[in-house]
Amino acid sequence: GLKKKEVHVLCLGLDNSGKTTIINCLKPSNAQVQDIVPTIGFSIENFKTSGLSFTVFDMSGQGRYRNLWEHYYKEGQAIIFVIDSSDKLRMVVAKEELDTLLNHPDIKHRRIPILFFANKMDLRDALSSVKVSQMLCLENIKDKAWHICASDAIKGEGLQEGVDWLQDQIK
Ligand code: GTP
Ligand code: MG
Repeated sequence: GLKKKEVHVLCLGLDNSGKTTIINCLKPSNAQVQDIVPTIGFSIENFKTSGLSFTVFDMSGQGRYRNLWEHYYKEGQAIIFVIDSSDKLRMVVAKEELDTLLNHPDIKHRRIPILFFANKMDLRDALSSVKVSQMLCLENIKDKAWHICASDAIKGEGLQEGVDWLQDQIK
């Protein structure tokens, strides 16, 4: 059959936000793992949508590994940025990392789509995606297409909507 167009995606965000859990959910069931552990460095994963074949750089969000992110910016054609909506204390840290990303020379002048997941929406003290969006000042992103989805990566809710949006931006 026809080979799907391949797209490189960077999955970024603080440690414990749920990046690996989200990517795991998007993989075909025979490739999913049961126990997800904190990512060391990064891991390369694959998943497909109806029209595209995604290669994901699932980066570790731990402070000591965040300096690895920028080495992959050049080859990224899309970004998935994951936020733990219940981690109010570190929302400012997530914003700092996002601002650093947006101001990086390999990202700043490119019209690269960014999908945000306001993840862990199942937790009682989770902020709404609107509130997360306000705290991260997403309205200030004028030169890139972006979209935010509330998600629950444990149940897999909200993920398909996000990935459908991403596919529409690229196709
Ligand atoms: P690093 O690899 O360290 O950067 O973390 P990560 O962003 O990949 O997070 P990971 O997917 O390892 O998930 C961290 C923890 O959050 C795990 O215990 C997950 O089960 C949990 N988790 C992920 N998504 C959700 C969610 O939507 N709701 C809840 N309640 N827990 C979640
Ligand atoms: Mg991980």
